[in-house]
Amino acid sequence: MSNKRIVSGMRPTGKLHLGHFHGVLANWLELQKEFECFFFAADWHSLTTEYDNTAGIRDNIREMLLDWLAFGIDPEQSTIFVQSKVPQHAELNLILSMITPLSWLERNPTYKEMQDNLAAKDLATFGFLGYPVLMASDIIVYKATRVPVGHDQLPHLEITREIARRFNYLYREVFPEPVALLTETPKVLGLDGRKMSKSYGNAIFLSETAEETQKKVMSMVTDVQRPRRSDPGEPDRCVAFTLHSLYVPAEKRAEIVNSCRGAQIGCVDCKKILGQYVVETLAPFREKRQGLAERPGLVEEVLTEGSRKAAQVAAATMEEVRAAVQI
Ligand code: TRP
Ligand code: SF4
Repeated sequence: MSNKRIVSGMRPTGKLHLGHFHGVLANWLELQKEFECFFFAADWHSLTTEYDNTAGIRDNIREMLLDWLAFGIDPEQSTIFVQSKVPQHAELNLILSMITPLSWLERNPTYKEMQDNLAAKDLATFGFLGYPVLMASDIIVYKATRVPVGHDQLPHLEITREIARRFNYLYREVFPEPVALLTETPKVLGLDGRKMSKSYGNAIFLSETAEETQKKVMSMVTDVQRPRRSDPGEPDRCVAFTLHSLYVPAEKRAEIVNSCRGAQIGCVDCKKILGQYVVETLAPFREKRQGLAERPGLVEEVLTEGSRKAAQVAAATMEEVRAAVQI
């Protein structure tokens, strides 16, 4: 079993949006059917950039967990937990930090990039530089062999493999080298045409009301080369149409493509139709989520039980680690 173990974490940023829905979550749902999975809220990772803004973290974990559960991430099948409730991650992080050359962390492209992106914040911290070591700990403390991640996380995973290799070389063979599972997922565009992201303010959230969703869809950018209703449009240039591809059935979509190119349909009507499909698709999810949210203590229970199970596995690894390091 352990040769097919999956670990993946998500920073608790709060409510999830369509980008998560079609990306990470869809991916997890498939993996959950086939493998032994460990899914966790990476709250310590949030601290690496949000150390001065911690008030919302617990709420964010809860909102994110409700989305996971409503989507079908199932505590009966997968181990679902919170990173900070499994202190073994931190103990392993400390030991791995001793054997990780600084140069590996300093040359990490994600490190420089994120520092530039978040230039307003002082990220010249020990913890931020050491982010990949913590991530390595998250993964190898479960002896995971596969890690589903996005392209942006590949450099981190490479460092994880290097650290595991170095540990095995210095002490003895304890850790498998985990490989990245890169599943192609559709790139979901936000209302303005940039990548959908909470921080861009262009996201459609899974838990928002039908009215909110409809309103957001109506505000989506369309084909900018079609200023007037009488101009022929081109769906391939249209931001809204990227959602048509995900939500509108093929036949209806083909009809829309023709009407758009022939200027027989206006963007307002077209997006009205799109909004209805999006709302309809999300309705069962939203209902389920609401039901879960009304059950007092549910999320806490799931996390307590999951964290207990995770800690059991992690504790067994740490026994081996201490023995190997002779400490
Ligand atoms: N770094 C990941 C992200 O920002 C989150 C994460 C933390 C993670 N630990 C992990 C992902 C371990 C996979 C495995 O998205
Ligand atoms: Fe996009 Fe529809 Fe307008 Fe065509 S009619 S540009 S597909 S919103």
